[in-house]
Amino acid sequence: VELFVDYAVAFIEESEFENYLSKSRNVLSEVFNLSPAAIVVSDQDDRIVHLNPAAEEMFGYSQEELLGKETSFLFSPTENLEKILQERDRDGFKGEVMLRRKNGKEFWGYVVDVPVKNHAGEVENYLLMALDITEAKNLQYYLIRAEKLAGIGILASGIAHELNNPLYGILGLAEAIVDENDVETIHQYANEIIEYAREAAEIVKDLAGYSYSSQMGTASTVNPNTALKNALKMISRLGKLKNIKVVEDYGELEEINASSSELQQVFVNLITNAIDAMPNGGTLTLKTRQVGDFDEIRISDTGTGIPEKYKTHIFEPFFTTKPVGEGTGLGLYICYRIVNKYKGSIDFEDNPEGGTTFIVRFPVKRD
Ligand SMILES: Nc1ncnc2c1ncn2[C@@H]1O[C@H](COP(=O)(O)OP(=O)(O)O)[C@@H](O)[C@H]1O
Ligand SMILES: [Mg+2]
Repeated sequence: VELFVDYAVAFIEESEFENYLSKSRNVLSEVFNLSPAAIVVSDQDDRIVHLNPAAEEMFGYSQEELLGKETSFLFSPTENLEKILQERDRDGFKGEVMLRRKNGKEFWGYVVDVPVKNHAGEVENYLLMALDITEAKNLQYYLIRAEKLAGIGILASGIAHELNNPLYGILGLAEAIVDENDVETIHQYANEIIEYAREAAEIVKDLAGYSYSSQMGTASTVNPNTALKNALKMISRLGKLKNIKVVEDYGELEEINASSSELQQVFVNLITNAIDAMPNGGTLTLKTRQVGDFDEIRISDTGTGIPEKYKTHIFEPFFTTKPVGEGTGLGLYICYRIVNKYKGSIDFEDNPEGGTTFIVRFPVKRD
């Protein structure tokens, strides 16, 4: 009897275990089949062995068409596949990449691609998961463009304000000339009108440069000192430098390959942030010098500084500590994108005496 009981218990346990196994297998296959994320499993040679319905739908292939193919098949040829595969083998790849559908159409995906290892630590399979993030990406681009346009809008209203000055001057002098008979005085007024008109032309010239190229962003060669000076000039035109002492320390820089307007946009954004950090006034220091093969631009303020907890977030799109209507949180993100485009870097550090320094470096042109 005892033996029988033992046997029965063992039998029940075993069948429960089987039951459990088959249940969890069912759950797993349901997850696999119903997952909104595309899941693609490949063997150690990267040949696809399983894919779920979401993957079929996302990439536009049927099971049969993809089984046995390499996963590289799913990426856009513009992606640096070698780098992705290297990262995957190291500790798994994670990131936004361009993927490709059967019909050749490319789309943005968020991809997680990890090795699945056996007990011995050898790679047996690769697990690739992908989400289509095209819509989110489009929204992001749209907002970046909106921010650029808003920047132009703010500048335009500043310019209108600036232009009023010389225009009223010209109008006043012209009216005075109408009633004036003394040739000497008329000459003098005419010369003043010319002065005002020059001033107006200068303002328009600066602005045209900004808005034109912020849409084009065509690269040529540019000296960062020039872009920095233009950025400062533009900001001072907007009357934003009240209470701010400006220290300018320009060293010799070599030209770099970049669009001057994009460079100017980087400096406008950084100087604006520096000024925003000094609501009660302070000192803005612009310092440039060449360090090795890099042009280095340092923009320092004596402002509030960046709290520790925000430091890892400030370059994220939409991260702002400013009230609605005052900050979009896109300024530093755009700086980062532009600097990155020209293979430069952007960093920041706390100043010992308070405030923050942003440091931008660009590789100098070598040909
Ligand atoms: N010079 C600075 N001093 C202090 N905080 C700064 C400075 N520059 C940027 N920040 C912080 O980084 C955040 C993000 O900046 P940014 O991307 O330009 O967006 P926004 O200026 O619209 O808030 C700011 O809200 C602010 O908290
Ligand atoms: Mg900003």
